[in-house]
Amino acid sequence: MQTQHTIISKRELAPAVKEYMVAAPVLAKKAKAGQFIILRIAEDGERVPLTIADADATAGTITLVVQEVGKTTTEMGRLNEGDAILNLIGPLGTPSHIEKLGTVCVIGGGIGIAPIYPIAKAMRDAGNRVISIIGARSKDLLFWEDKMRAVSDKLCVTTDDGSYGVKGFVSDELRRIMEEGVTLGSVTAIGPVPMMRAVAETTRARKVPTVVSLNPIMIDGTGMCGGCRVTVGGETKFTCVDGPEFDGHLVDFAELIQRQAYYRDLEQDAADHCRLAQEHPEAGPRKKTPSAG
Ligand SMILES: Cc1cc2nc3c(=O)[nH]c(=O)nc-3n(C[C@H](O)[C@H](O)[C@H](O)COP(=O)(O)OP(=O)(O)OC[C@H]3O[C@@H](n4cnc5c(N)ncnc54)[C@H](O)[C@@H]3O)c2cc1C
Ligand code: FES
Repeated sequence: MQTQHTIISKRELAPAVKEYMVAAPVLAKKAKAGQFIILRIAEDGERVPLTIADADATAGTITLVVQEVGKTTTEMGRLNEGDAILNLIGPLGTPSHIEKLGTVCVIGGGIGIAPIYPIAKAMRDAGNRVISIIGARSKDLLFWEDKMRAVSDKLCVTTDDGSYGVKGFVSDELRRIMEEGVTLGSVTAIGPVPMMRAVAETTRARKVPTVVSLNPIMIDGTGMCGGCRVTVGGETKFTCVDGPEFDGHLVDFAELIQRQAYYRDLEQDAADHCRLAQEHPEAGPRKKTPSAG
C-alpha cells in the first residue's frame, strides 16, 4: 500500500550512492531549488538533512540522492521500493536566489551533483545561459550526466584521475572558462568543503559573486540548537534557517572543517555499532550521541 512517504522507486547511481523517488505530494508542490528535507527512518533514529534534488508536483514525488557515509544513510540504503520513510519534514532552508544574470556557472562535485541539478534547472528556466561543471574522483562515481546536460547550455565533466572527461578538478575547469574571457554573472558550487573553498578562491580576484551550499552537522533543523552554526562575514549564521547557501567569499571554511571533524569519532563509533548490530542483532540497539532523534 502507498502511504505518505512510500519509496516509489530506488536505483543505484554509483557505489554507495542511491536515488530514491518518494511520495510526498505537499512537499513536491512547495519545494524550491536549494531547499532540503530532514528525514527519520526509525522512531529512535537521528534526523538526516538531504537536499530535494528534484520534485514533480504533478506526480506528487520528490527525488533524494543519498550517499551512504554513516549509520543512518547506510540504514536507508536497506530500504526498498514500497517501504515507507517514517518522517520527512520540509521544505527547509532558504531557497536559492534565482534571477536572470546572463551567463552563470553551476558546479557539482561528487554527491554535490544532485543538489546542483535543481539550481541549474531553475537558472535555465529564468533565462540564463547555464555552464555546468560536474566532477568526481573517477568515472564510476559520476552520475546524472544526462540530467545535467538537459538543463545546461554547456556541460563540462572532470575526473580527478582522468578516467572520464577532463583530468583535474572542477575548479581547474572553472579557471579555464574564466581565462577564456567568459563573463560570469554568478557561480554556485556544491560539493566537498575543500572543493567549495577552491571554487571561492578561484572567483575571488575577479569578484564573481559565488554561492556555496554548506553542510555542517544539523540536529533540530529549526535554528534552535545551534549545531549548524557557521561564521560568514564575521557573523554567526545558522545553516538550517539562514542557509544552506552563503556567499562563498565570506565563509570561514577553516572553522567549518574544524567543526565537522569534531564529531568524527562519535560518528565512527555509531557506524561501527550499526555494523555490529547487523551482524549480532542479539546485542541490541545502542544510541548514537550527539543524537539528532
Ligand atoms: C543542508 C544539507 C543537505 C544535504 N544533502 C545531502 C544530499 O542530498 N545527499 C547526501 O547524501 N547527503 C546530504 N547531506 C549530508 C547528509 O546529511 C549526511 O551525510 C548524513 O547526515 C550522514 O548521516 P549518517 O548517520 O549516515 O552518518 P554519520 O555517522 O552521522 O556520519 C558519517 C560521516 O558523514 C559526515 N556527516 C555527518 N552528518 C553530516 C551532515 N549533516 N552533513 C555533512 N556531513 C555529515 C560526518 O562528518 C562523517 O564523516 C546534506 C547535509 C546538509 C546539511
Ligand atoms: S540544526 Fe539546530 S540550529 Fe540549525
